[in-house]
Amino acid sequence: MTNFKTLDDADVAGKRVLVRVDLNVPVSDGVVTDATRIERVAPTIQELSKKGAKVILLAHFGRPKDGPDPQFSLGPIAHAVAKIVGHSVHFAADSIGEKADEAVAKLKNGDVLLLENTRFYKGEEKNDPEHVKALAANGDIYVNDAFSAAHRAHASTEGLARVLPAYAGRTMEAELLALEKGLGAPKRPVVAIVGGAKVSSKLDLLGNLVEKVDALVIGGGMANTFLAAQGVKVGKSLCEHDLAGTAREIMAKAKAANCTIILPVDAIVAWHFQANAPFHAYGLDAIPDDGMILDVGPQSIERVKAAIDDASTLVWNGPLGAFELTPFDKATVAAARHVAERTKAGHLVSVAGGGDTVAALNHAGVADDFSYVSTAGGAFLEWMEGKPLPGVDVLKK
Ligand code: 3PG
Ligand code: MG
Repeated sequence: MTNFKTLDDADVAGKRVLVRVDLNVPVSDGVVTDATRIERVAPTIQELSKKGAKVILLAHFGRPKDGPDPQFSLGPIAHAVAKIVGHSVHFAADSIGEKADEAVAKLKNGDVLLLENTRFYKGEEKNDPEHVKALAANGDIYVNDAFSAAHRAHASTEGLARVLPAYAGRTMEAELLALEKGLGAPKRPVVAIVGGAKVSSKLDLLGNLVEKVDALVIGGGMANTFLAAQGVKVGKSLCEHDLAGTAREIMAKAKAANCTIILPVDAIVAWHFQANAPFHAYGLDAIPDDGMILDVGPQSIERVKAAIDDASTLVWNGPLGAFELTPFDKATVAAARHVAERTKAGHLVSVAGGGDTVAALNHAGVADDFSYVSTAGGAFLEWMEGKPLPGVDVLKK
């Protein structure tokens, strides 16, 4: 991306390079259960090491509240990083001060060091200039490779870019390029698929999308709120009845912006929220009072596929149904596979993100076939909401 400095512009040999990475990975009994985020930052670490930099990794882990707390230590993650990067990774039990200084002083060109959780200091989240200075004392250059933490204006995600020469890492670079293709300067028509449980958590996102995309597919529990707002009886389905007015406003805004809203035209209804519960497909005029919608129906799937066929660009956040319960994963899987096919055939640029969405695409076995799948949660949502991301904006030339 032309308005960011990348590693191509950086002379790193012999320099101390502070690299912000996102190592906020799921861990169970001390074992990393999903290393995707580590895999994503590995190329940047490898490249810097190969070019002879002293690579100093900065990262947060969880949300510690009161200073150092062993359960939020990055110590155990260092091994996982070493394994994936294929290079030994030293660890310092502090992110600033004596312990960090000593570990950095020992580094030889090409070495990799992970510093302890940046959030063990209040100054990190406050982006306190004194704290930024303390972190910067150990670096000559700053590289940010943590798009997924870029919605935070913290010392290690934003402050450092103000006091050191700052560059986007390879993953940040790829993410920004993909997002630019998704909503920044997309090839039209652009279709968005938005699902998930609640309208209330995605109001800003829907409001922004209807002004940017040509068609918006709404699925998941939040579709029920839209259907109910139009007088459809949704039985015992998840539904925010108090948001009927808001749903109608979003539809009016879409109409004014020439964005077609695609709602389900039929529904898969069950009587228990559990896997393999007995179910039946119904038209929207016949949803039983005692049933709940757990997925969009077969005609809706065809409608969504047709929308995908019409698109040159697709942006996706949120599942279409209760995909974690078979067989209510059917629409999500069918749509995901269709997107994957269109993408592989060269007809579609597809960008997806968000925790549930990545899980759904992995479940469908097609995450690798999308043009880009972001591992960001909050940052991806804020990007879809059209909000500025402090960690990205500060990198702009
Ligand atoms: C994430 O897991 O979404 C990122 O690492 C950011 O974490 P945070 O929401 O605790 O800031
Ligand atoms: Mg988060």
